[in-house]
Amino acid sequence: MRHRTFIEPFKIKSVEPIHMTTEKERQGYLRDANYNTFLLDAKTVLLDFLTDSGTSAMSANQWASIMQGDESYAGSRSWKKMETVVQELTGMEYILPTHQGRAAERIIYGHLGGKGKIFISNTHFDTTRANIEFSGAEGIDIPIPESKDTALLHPFKGNLDTKKLLTLIAKHGAENIGAVVLTVTNNSGGGQPVSMKNARTIHDICKAHNILLLLDCCRIAENAYFIKHKEDGYADKTYKAIAQEMFALADGAVMSAKKDALVNMGGFLALKDPAIAQACTNVLIITEGFSTYGGLNGRDMEAIAVGLEEVFEPAYLTYRIKSTTYLGEKLHQIGVPVVMPIGGHAVYIDAKKLYAHIPPHEYPGHALACELYLKAGIRSVEIGSVMFGKYDKNKQLIPAGMELVRLAIPRRVYTKSHFDYVIETFEEILRTKHEVRGYEIVEEPEFLRHFTAKFEQLLPAEVV
Ligand code: F0G
Repeated sequence: MRHRTFIEPFKIKSVEPIHMTTEKERQGYLRDANYNTFLLDAKTVLLDFLTDSGTSAMSANQWASIMQGDESYAGSRSWKKMETVVQELTGMEYILPTHQGRAAERIIYGHLGGKGKIFISNTHFDTTRANIEFSGAEGIDIPIPESKDTALLHPFKGNLDTKKLLTLIAKHGAENIGAVVLTVTNNSGGGQPVSMKNARTIHDICKAHNILLLLDCCRIAENAYFIKHKEDGYADKTYKAIAQEMFALADGAVMSAKKDALVNMGGFLALKDPAIAQACTNVLIITEGFSTYGGLNGRDMEAIAVGLEEVFEPAYLTYRIKSTTYLGEKLHQIGVPVVMPIGGHAVYIDAKKLYAHIPPHEYPGHALACELYLKAGIRSVEIGSVMFGKYDKNKQLIPAGMELVRLAIPRRVYTKSHFDYVIETFEEILRTKHEVRGYEIVEEPEFLRHFTAKFEQLLPAEVV
C-alpha cells in the first residue's frame, strides 16, 4: 500500500514541554519586548521557527556518543572520529574543526580576502558577506534571474548565473577573485537547491581560470535530496554519493555543523591545498584552539561524527524535505503567498503580497512576524526592510528588495500536528489581514538593527 501520510521516522524518548500561553499574555510579552520578537524570552514562544541552526533534536545514538567524548587536549579519539567522517564525506585531506560556521569563514576569508579581492556567490549568507567585507574584500551575489520571481517554479532556483560569472571574471581579472562561493542550499535565496550541472559548470569555469571554488555546505544533504529527485541521472545514486560528487568539484568547504550535522554547536573548514591549510591552521590555533579540537569539546566532535552519517539516511531526509514541503504547499493551497517552490529548511512568506496595504516603510514583514506571535505564539524572522533596509541622506528608508518572513524548521523537533497548528493560524491571518497595521521603529542601533530595535504599532487613521 502507498500511504498518503508521511510520518516522523522516529519515536520520542525524551520530551521538552512547551510553555502554553494565551493571546492576552502574549500581548503583554510582546509589548514588554518592544514589539521585537528577538527580544522575547524563549519560554514565552510556543513554536520557535526563528532558525534551523543549532536547534536540532539529537538522536539516542548521538547522546550515547557524547558519553564517549575524549577531552584530550591533543590527538583526541573523538577528533579522529570526526576527522575520518568529514574526510570520507568531503574527499578533502585537511580538516579544521571550529566552534561554528562563521569561525571557519573568518579563518578562510581572512586568509584569501583583503583589499582589492572579489568573492562571487549565488548568494553570500550574512556572516559570509560580513567576514569577506571585514577582510577588506568585496562580495558579489549573482543568483540566476529566475530566483527574483517568488512565484516562479524552477527546480534549481539556487543556481548561480554562470554567464554573469564569466563577465565578472573578464571585468575584474581572475587573479583578483579570492574565490567563488557556492552556498548549498541557497539560504538567503529561499533555501533553494543548486543543481549538479550548475556546480559542474562553475567548477569548469573556475578550473579554466585558476580560481578557487568553495562550498558553503551546511545544508548539502538537503541539497542532495533535490538533486536525486529532480535532476536527470541521479535517481539511482545515494544522497551521500551525490554530496560526495559535489564536494569533489570544490577546492574547499565551510560548514556550520549546526544545520545538516544535526548538532547544537560546531563547524569545520575542509581544504585540499596543503599551503592554504597550513596558513589557516596557524590562525585556527591562535583564535579557536589546537588543530585537534578547534573550538569544540571532544563530546561535540562525537555527536558531529554521528550526525553527519544520520543526515544522509533516506528515511530521515525524505521526512525532512516532505515535512517542509507539507507546510509550504498547504499554506500555498489556502492562499498564502509563499516563495515557490518550497525549499529544504524553511518556508518563506511574501509579506509584501500578503499585506499589500502596508507600505515597505511600515514594515509588512515585521507586522506578520508580530501577528504570528500574538495569534499563536509562533516565532518567525523578518527578512525584509527591518533586516536589510538602509536610509538615504534625508533619513528616508531605502527598502530591501523583498519583504519576506521565514519560518525555519528545526530538524526532528516538531511534529505534523505542530505544522497543522501553523496552517490553522494562517487561515486566521488571511481572514483578518485587512485589520493589521504596520509598525514604526522608535529606537535602533547603528548596525544589525533587527536584533535590538524597538518598535511601536501604528494606530488606525481614524484614531490619529
Ligand atoms: N552559511 C550559511 C548558508 C548559513 O545559513 C549560516 C548560518 C552560516 C553560514 C553561519 O554559520 O551560524 O554556524 O556561524 N545560518 C543561520 C540561519 C544563523 O539562521 O540561517 P554559523
